[in-house]
Amino acid sequence: MSAAGAAGPAEQLVQRVEDRSALIGIVGLGYVGLPLAMEFARAGFRVLGFDLNPGVVDGLNAHRSHIQDVPSGVVAEHGKAGRFGATTDLKRLGEPDVISICVPTPLSKTKDPDVSYVIAATDSVKAALRRGQLVVLESTTYPGTTRELMLPALEATGLKVGSDFFLAFSPERVDPGNPTWNTRNTPKVVGGITAACRRVAVAVYGAAVDRLVPVTSTEAAELVKILENTFRSVNIGLVNEMAIVCDKLGVDVWEVIEAAATKPFGFMKFTPGPGVGGHCIPLDPHYLAWKMRTLNYRTRFIELAGEINAEMPEYWVARVVDQLNERGKAARGSAVLVLGVAYKKDIDDVRESPALDVIRLLAHRGAVVHYHDPHVPRLRADGIDLASVPLSEATLRAADCVIIVTDHSNIDYGLVARSSAALVDTRHAVPRAASH
Ligand SMILES: NC(=O)c1ccc[n+]([C@@H]2O[C@H](COP(=O)([O-])OP(=O)(O)OC[C@H]3O[C@@H](n4cnc5c(N)ncnc54)[C@H](O)[C@@H]3O)[C@@H](O)[C@H]2O)c1
Repeated sequence: MSAAGAAGPAEQLVQRVEDRSALIGIVGLGYVGLPLAMEFARAGFRVLGFDLNPGVVDGLNAHRSHIQDVPSGVVAEHGKAGRFGATTDLKRLGEPDVISICVPTPLSKTKDPDVSYVIAATDSVKAALRRGQLVVLESTTYPGTTRELMLPALEATGLKVGSDFFLAFSPERVDPGNPTWNTRNTPKVVGGITAACRRVAVAVYGAAVDRLVPVTSTEAAELVKILENTFRSVNIGLVNEMAIVCDKLGVDVWEVIEAAATKPFGFMKFTPGPGVGGHCIPLDPHYLAWKMRTLNYRTRFIELAGEINAEMPEYWVARVVDQLNERGKAARGSAVLVLGVAYKKDIDDVRESPALDVIRLLAHRGAVVHYHDPHVPRLRADGIDLASVPLSEATLRAADCVIIVTDHSNIDYGLVARSSAALVDTRHAVPRAASH
């Protein structure tokens, strides 16, 4: 600190982080924002959450969590201690010292980035921006978003980045339903617009997250997240193609993968399935593909993996039709039970779930589709409106074919195998359960 308490905004903010007097603002209290808010509260900060959805805000202020990974008891603990509250009033964005933006980044119908939520949140921050604030974008997006989209808007206030206010990008890596890795113990990448931005952001997040990984620019941080998700998409696409190859060769793909995975180096195990779902893997790579199209470059791996993964529901529905055919039945009028509709096991999220495509493709062929999912009692998405049927010997026997789309843990796969007239197992769930 320089003489006579004349510390600059950066030092003042770092000091407020150290003594926990800094107020943390989180914009967007969903799968990413709420766990992050709880981590800052756990670290001893007061946290003010912002969300446009009054149902979300009222629920949280009444200590009800809408996110499976955050127990209501944790919201209640921090709420009662005065460390957490939520509001729909974005005019209060001048209050927090730190603002983390965790709003959705979906794709448009033409698979182009829809950054309208980021722009809206930036405009709200801009309207209240004051000296000394740190603004961090957490939403997954294309490289350049923080510098090209947010920085000009925020500097239009007359405040200067790196000296008056600070701007950084730090991608969220939360893996919903993962019992081992959470917001606190997953290393967090941080890139700042300036060195001071990065220093302040590292000081803030370092107070709540175990390990930080600083990188030299916001573009690098933005690209890290997209590389991670593209890596998954491409490798899942590869094993999905291998599943089709093995089917045609009459070889068991699972045996091949398990044996390949015994190689102690140079191989990483990915497993085939019905396709990819969730807010990340099917969407994020397209952000980079779009950005590169603007630079006249076509990202071929991204597009090929996306195509293969998107075709998997069609492949598995064809297997259902084959099974019915074996039994002299047509798809039209046959009863098909879909087991699991969440996009992955042990969670309740159906966004972009391949089960939605499987249901639609079966219904398109005239099948009578029911589903069971212990985590999703009601499925209302993309024109589908169904209620989960109980899983019993009777419901299994009533189906002409059962297709396992999501391998939730708490399903009796022995019962499923014994009671199904025909079974299509996209996840290898039955043999895995039997070997345990
Ligand atoms: N879900 C995941 O597993 C995951 C993991 C890593 C990264 N991400 C990324 O994090 C971002 C957020 O994803 P999510 O799954 O948490 O989304 P979400 O839909 O669960 O939550 C977003 C919240 O933001 C609110 N919101 C939207 N616009 C707002 C605005 N202008 N002001 C205030 N609140 C606003 C919505 O009401 C919603 O509650 C996305 O970019 C996503 O790609 C998600």
